[in-house]
Amino acid sequence: SSSAAHPENAKTTDLAPDTVDASGAYMNTNQGVKISDDENSLKAGNRGPSLLEDFILREKITHFDHERIPERVVHARGSAAHGVFKVYESQAAVTSAAFLQDPEAETPVFVRFSTVAGSRGSTDLARDVRGFAVKFYTQEGNFDLVGNNMPVFFIQDAIKFPDLIHAVKPEPDNEIPQAASAHDTFWDFISLMPESAHMVMWVMSDRAIPRSYRMMEGFGVHTFRLVNAEGVSSFVKFHWKPLLGVHSVAWDEAQNISGKDPDFHRRDLWNAIESGNFPEWELGIQVVPEEDEHKFEFDLLDPTKLIPEELVPVQRIGKLTLNRNPDNFFAETEQVAFHVGHIVPGIDFTNDPLLQGRLFSYTDTQLIRLGGPNFHEIPINRPVVPVYNNQRDGHMRQTINKGKTSYHPNSLGGGCPFLAGKMEGGFSSYPERIEAHKIRERSRSFFDHFSQARLFFNSQSEPEKNHIIDAFSFELGKVQTVAVRERMLRILAQIDSGLAAQVAYALRLHIPKDTDEPLNKSIPADADPAAYQPEMK
Ligand code: HEM
Repeated sequence: SSSAAHPENAKTTDLAPDTVDASGAYMNTNQGVKISDDENSLKAGNRGPSLLEDFILREKITHFDHERIPERVVHARGSAAHGVFKVYESQAAVTSAAFLQDPEAETPVFVRFSTVAGSRGSTDLARDVRGFAVKFYTQEGNFDLVGNNMPVFFIQDAIKFPDLIHAVKPEPDNEIPQAASAHDTFWDFISLMPESAHMVMWVMSDRAIPRSYRMMEGFGVHTFRLVNAEGVSSFVKFHWKPLLGVHSVAWDEAQNISGKDPDFHRRDLWNAIESGNFPEWELGIQVVPEEDEHKFEFDLLDPTKLIPEELVPVQRIGKLTLNRNPDNFFAETEQVAFHVGHIVPGIDFTNDPLLQGRLFSYTDTQLIRLGGPNFHEIPINRPVVPVYNNQRDGHMRQTINKGKTSYHPNSLGGGCPFLAGKMEGGFSSYPERIEAHKIRERSRSFFDHFSQARLFFNSQSEPEKNHIIDAFSFELGKVQTVAVRERMLRILAQIDSGLAAQVAYALRLHIPKDTDEPLNKSIPADADPAAYQPEMK
């Protein structure tokens, strides 16, 4: 179909046996019986009732009845493509990850872009965060970099994620509005969660209405770890830099496009790849040596903060090229299961409390979305290396495991041993030292919610600042509850007094005078404010 040749790589070879082109073949049933009439059901007589014994009708209708699976609870609307990643030069100094060593080696990837709030059929041009999820099919197993097009997030702790999503999704009584942040529940939550101030500045900026998926940056958001062959670890932030540059549309353009072509981003990505205009990104890393963990004015574990590029430059270490459209949207784009917990040796997690919660959430949601414990066997999800372990059975098991033993240790033969200790290629978690009390509390190093929001606003050009002011005015203008609008004005006043004043003017409201109600509810009311300044080292 495509003028762009289907490039061969380990993943296309892996998918080939499951890819069917049945055009021209005679139709048969799922049991392989040839079908002589696909136009008429079996009836008693010319005009008679249909017969229950019509297995051909029943099979066809039954399968149809079960075509839909639940859409993703977030990021339901998306588009994906295949491609390859190549590192520019070995990153052995910082990581042992095999796919980051050899500039000659091509790692197949599958990348899904998405909006967050809207349903599967919602418009591409909604003001929203965009997902940027990359699955690397490496020779050491799958590494998923499940990121967004913004470098920070709304909340600091995963325990607030269901609340955030309940607030941003259409309201529960009337399921309005679809794929828009312009409503009371969203702004009610945001106004009560000052930790969202930085992220909400990005969401009200032009970054939230990209011109194209091909023209977005991507970010791993959390601080991750890299670990080299000697076991030396450093902290890392991952970036994707689009070679076409970062471009957005204006809000009135976005609204126009949403009306005329809700598939605008999907079509753009598909057409670019079909015409051989392969989108490209460079993978960037910001590396912080372990000993510098505490040298910043913010906490590296706080996902509402970025590391300014002036402090730690982004090194561009490799290139991602998307060069093949999926053959089947459902089989590939809909069934792909990304998970921030899919890592390979040389990469590890940190204690970011948002990341830690995500490590539980993805497999859990996919167990229900994809119907059981064997979704790793779905062609788009399986690694390019064979999977050998003692896990067995479950719904829809495809693998036929031979032998009597599916346990370890065993003396009867068969079954799978494992690499003892840190033997070549085995994953071993970074032995970070932990000695602490169990507590359910926010670290005070997470309490500065406004400095980086201000930094972001100040980094914008005049027209971009005006777009942010217009976006707040538009979105808050849809909010019915005056107290919510006013609480947002108090938040904006903490970020930039000019911003707050202009939005207040647009809303015909005054910025409320300081009240006793604390903006930051995570700080105990009786606390000494000085004790809650971020720790400066
Ligand atoms: C899906 C990114 C936070 C739960 C996704 C997807 C992306 C993403 C890109 C879409 C994956 C795809 O294309 O299939 C992020 C980022 C986060 C974040 C960058 C913060 C930095 C969280 C948190 C949770 C969560 C805190 C839960 C505690 C989910 C779930 C899905 C999802 C349940 C649906 C997965 C599926 O059905 O396959 N996320 N997310 N995310 N995310 Fe997150």
